[in-house]
Amino acid sequence: MRVLSVASECAPLVKTGGLADVTGALPAALAGVGVQMRSLLPGYPAVMAALSDASPVHRFDDLFGGPAVLLQGQAAGLDLLVIDAPHLYARPGNPYLGPDGRDWPDNPERFAALSWVGAHVAAQGADGWHPQVLHGHDWQAGLMIEYLPRMGGAGVRTVLTIHNIAFTGSTDPGRLHSLRLDPARFYSEGYEFWGAISALKAGLMGADALTTVSPSYAEELMTPEFGMGLDGVMRHRQADLTGILNGIDEDAWNPATDPAIAAFDAPSGKAAAKTALQAELGLPQAAGPLCVIVSRMTHQKGLDLVLETLPALLDPGGQLAVLGSGDPGLEQAFRQAAGDPNVAVRIGYDEGLSHRLIAGGDAILVPSRFEPCGLTQMYGLRYGTIPVVALTGGLADTVINASPAGLARGVATGIQFAPVTAVALRGALMRLTRLFSDREVWTRMQVNAMAHPVGWAPSARAYADLYARLTQTP
Ligand code: ADP
Ligand code: GLC
Repeated sequence: MRVLSVASECAPLVKTGGLADVTGALPAALAGVGVQMRSLLPGYPAVMAALSDASPVHRFDDLFGGPAVLLQGQAAGLDLLVIDAPHLYARPGNPYLGPDGRDWPDNPERFAALSWVGAHVAAQGADGWHPQVLHGHDWQAGLMIEYLPRMGGAGVRTVLTIHNIAFTGSTDPGRLHSLRLDPARFYSEGYEFWGAISALKAGLMGADALTTVSPSYAEELMTPEFGMGLDGVMRHRQADLTGILNGIDEDAWNPATDPAIAAFDAPSGKAAAKTALQAELGLPQAAGPLCVIVSRMTHQKGLDLVLETLPALLDPGGQLAVLGSGDPGLEQAFRQAAGDPNVAVRIGYDEGLSHRLIAGGDAILVPSRFEPCGLTQMYGLRYGTIPVVALTGGLADTVINASPAGLARGVATGIQFAPVTAVALRGALMRLTRLFSDREVWTRMQVNAMAHPVGWAPSARAYADLYARLTQTP
């Protein structure tokens, strides 16, 4: 089975969040089940620099405002197709934001170009390689569905994966021409969304199959509360929608071999990691539960609730260590919270520190208002760092709550709370403090957590089955 993946980011080359982890991990996971995946990526400077054995396979005279070359090559163990289009992608730093922290004004065209080239490769092939399935991710790949039939690719099957429906890729209808869209399809059955052009809507309406990154989020997407105005579309496509849970990279996130820490393979080994983390962050060597957060700082992640409920953690002797960046107001509020000696905050992006936090913490907080899947709670499980999570999306699907029933059956791996409010989070932090003081129960939870499967194998099989079903149906 040959599949072309189309996405705006891919770890370890370019990453702003979990999307990159997923697109970076899927090709290797799928190779094990007979799927040959190539990944199409924009030629950002970091991607161009990493590319080896690059050879041109196609030239575009005018790719949304300038010439472009499609390169084939390898980087970081991935088989890549890279769009070398300096007028669109030769911009350093974050793939979406300019130096002023705002979206690049031509983002609609930059990712329309990604979708255009994806459709082109699907329809025409690249150096004799012809994908049977075109698999796009999020709004940046949505318009491939509009372009594909026009390029003669009607026989190629399409999948769109929703990692976050909050980003609809919407833009002004005045851009119809510059996005090379067919004006006749600017209607509710096409890419029109509340009077705007939506790249995501185009994909949601037209892809043969839709997937999202957890079974619970698949259900939630069909409700007004989580569908962000697209819940009607999701209900309309219900029969073609599947939730396939993300896995994590079990080599990169393995406490027994992690070079960022003093390795351990049982809960008892965490003590050294905790002491080292406290020392690194200047926290007192206190014995209470040390909670960690590694996150983008946005409304989605519910971190404002942590600020609001901090005393419930700190007063009984707990500590908090945070790594993240994003919303300037939240960054500032966390900096202020770090005035407390038992709170440490690092604003920024730091891969090594993220490992040391997840290894050294007793618990990891993920109080998201919505969470399509979430990866850090799974990192927590693997390291025996108990997840304290909102009962939503993938957080609901990956953590087994320490409810009375869960504890009685000895299966709990974490703490879940609902609804996503300060009152409920405060309750969860109080439960955390109580459970943490009972060594036997706590250790049992850690052992359960470390044994919980978080790899890619079952999900890789689910994607492979989906591709097979699509290509078998006429
Ligand atoms: P999302 O994609 O919504 O941000 P996920 O939990 O799916 O949420 O993925 C986030 C990914 O980004 C994880 O791999 C996490 O470790 C990483 N990450 C987030 N913030 C930081 C940070 N400040 N430093 C290092 N890694 C981070
Ligand atoms: C999005 C979601 C996150 C998910 C990630 C990878 O960024 O916010 O929940 O884990 O995509 O699918």
